[in-house]
Amino acid sequence: MPEKILIVDDDIDSLKLIGLMLQRQGYEVAAANAGNQALPKALAEHPDLIILDVMMPDINGYEVCKRLRANPETKNIPIIMFTAKTLIDDKVIGFEAGADDYLTKPTHPSELASRVKAVLARSANTRRVEAPTSSRGMAIGVLGAKGGVGTTTIALNLTTAIAQSGKENPIVADFRLGMGTLGLYMGMGRSTGMTNVLSKPTAEIRPQLLETELVAHVAGFRALLSSSRPRDAMMNFSPDALSAVINGLRTLGRPVVFDLGSGFNPIVARVQREMDKLLVVIDPNGVTLAVARELIRELDANAPGRTNVVIVNRAQSSTQTPWQEVEQLLGQEIRAIISAAPELAFQAAEAGKPIILMQPNAIVTNQIMKLADLVAAPQGAGGSEMLA
Ligand SMILES: Nc1ncnc2c1ncn2[C@@H]1O[C@H](COP(=O)(O)OP(=O)(O)OP(=O)(O)O)[C@@H](O)[C@H]1O
Ligand SMILES: [Mg+2]
Repeated sequence: MPEKILIVDDDIDSLKLIGLMLQRQGYEVAAANAGNQALPKALAEHPDLIILDVMMPDINGYEVCKRLRANPETKNIPIIMFTAKTLIDDKVIGFEAGADDYLTKPTHPSELASRVKAVLARSANTRRVEAPTSSRGMAIGVLGAKGGVGTTTIALNLTTAIAQSGKENPIVADFRLGMGTLGLYMGMGRSTGMTNVLSKPTAEIRPQLLETELVAHVAGFRALLSSSRPRDAMMNFSPDALSAVINGLRTLGRPVVFDLGSGFNPIVARVQREMDKLLVVIDPNGVTLAVARELIRELDANAPGRTNVVIVNRAQSSTQTPWQEVEQLLGQEIRAIISAAPELAFQAAEAGKPIILMQPNAIVTNQIMKLADLVAAPQGAGGSEMLA
């Protein structure tokens, strides 16, 4: 199989020229013509090497390079930076940003060929032996912009919807230590699996142990629940224990949905990078939007270039919120809207049953099923249209 090379350059002529050179040398070629396309393209194409132009109008190559290095899926892909400049300073910045090699424009085909070959050979030698990502379940974090916006409700119903689709074996995990309401919404309030697991030494937190703490729901998913004993909120555990829980669950469930509570709390700060997708739940209130805007900035700073998906919960058609203005305010596209269904939500909570099982034909059920399709799709896939 030929090695695949992703070329990122805003200049179409340059893209074509380099693409052609590489194709003639027997490589498979993928292209992106803007900096912000590089990461999604890399996630979708799994290239063996990325050739990155430095000067691009939207995001420059150094920034793109940093984002690629910050993502666990793309951090080991070798990068050759490509620039019209020959200044030594630029090379230093490039290497600091994580580039493997440097080329200056215009480049002779033979020079391009020899650099590409050298970098690919080096990376084949040093390639770390890691479990292929496809054998691990996707990690989906659900985080409220503030408390009470419906984070737990979304996490539970999303997992139920994925289970309903029949293809997968999802797990939902509650990281709300001492405030675990997930089990209550599932009609299984007494289980405290997460608390039990986190009280063990990190080395003991393995899939076998996690398996014994999972509870099964009739709807076809399993759950790792947190206690609702208030004191457990102050529990001490090492940050590595969180990673051990996430990694272990990812060997058991496909995908794993995490209730991360709300705000930029210590758990989300620590595990954000381990989430393949992070769903930020908001509601259409001014106060929520104000804190959501700050939260999204903080999340972007903590883990640049990650997939954040904004979901509006409890939307009311009577108050026509101008979504475009909200998107502008948040600096982030709204990817799903879940209608307000207060009576149904109330009944479901009383019955200890996910909303979508209470009323399979409700509008909210349909909206949550669509959300499940969107988030359970492989990374980089999925349309950009809004789901309403
Ligand atoms: N789409 C909806 N329509 C109407 N009510 C909803 C909707 N989604 C959730 N609710 C209700 O809103 C309340 C809060 O939901 P939930 O407990 O899921 O929020 P949360 O953000 O997880 O809260 P916490 O910050 O306490 O963890 C619950 O009473 C729930 O039934
Ligand atoms: Mg909650």
